[in-house]
Amino acid sequence: MRSRYDCVSTELAKAIKSVQGNTVHLVEVGVYAGDRAEAMIRQVQAAGKEARYFGYDLFEGLTPEKNTQEKGKAKLPPSRAAVLQRLTKAYTGKGLKPTLVAGDSKDTLPGIQGHVIFADFIFIDGGHSLDTIESDWHSVEPVVGPDTIVLFDDCYPGDDTVGCFELMCRLGREFLVEPLEPVDDCNGLKIQMVKVTRAKT
Ligand SMILES: C[S@@+](CC[C@H](N)C(=O)[O-])C[C@H]1O[C@@H](n2cnc3c(N)ncnc32)[C@H](O)[C@@H]1O
Repeated sequence: MRSRYDCVSTELAKAIKSVQGNTVHLVEVGVYAGDRAEAMIRQVQAAGKEARYFGYDLFEGLTPEKNTQEKGKAKLPPSRAAVLQRLTKAYTGKGLKPTLVAGDSKDTLPGIQGHVIFADFIFIDGGHSLDTIESDWHSVEPVVGPDTIVLFDDCYPGDDTVGCFELMCRLGREFLVEPLEPVDDCNGLKIQMVKVTRAKT
């Protein structure tokens, strides 16, 4: 059965297709153990391109208190070093290495502009609180180019107290907002991903 996580590979495939050069620039906010990161890097390489991956997470900085504040998973993520080792092993290409930035994305993510002009694919899956999602979006917005695909996890349709639903309802006309199927049902809680791209003028 398909889950909302299948949207990541489906949308990444579209992003890869639109990349003219040899390098696909990936940004992930919320890396956790690196499951999605590794899958994305491998997918890019399987398509014959090089992956330049930038991941942002609190890693060791995620305390149980912060996790509650961010309405996150019960389990805390592994260390940055452990995830870096895992992702480095996933690279088959010649020079590129993953970049993992530890810290609160409200502080670290504005630095993305120092790494990349336009990202090709951005997956926002970090803190679930409204202020963190808002901040994450404003940090990546400058690197959203004409063909960039931004995928938000954690849309709880109709719930404007947590997750990205509230932000999605008020993105300006310059962006196309597409809620994606399937909608997962987690013990009665509906969760889906939302795709955001720049509207074509
Ligand atoms: C759902 S997990 C990410 C899963 C990952 N994207 C995947 O699909 O494999 C959410 C992650 O967000 C991180 N996180 C939560 N709040 C954060 C914040 N304010 N800044 C940076 N990372 C944060 C947590 O440490 C956790 O590892």
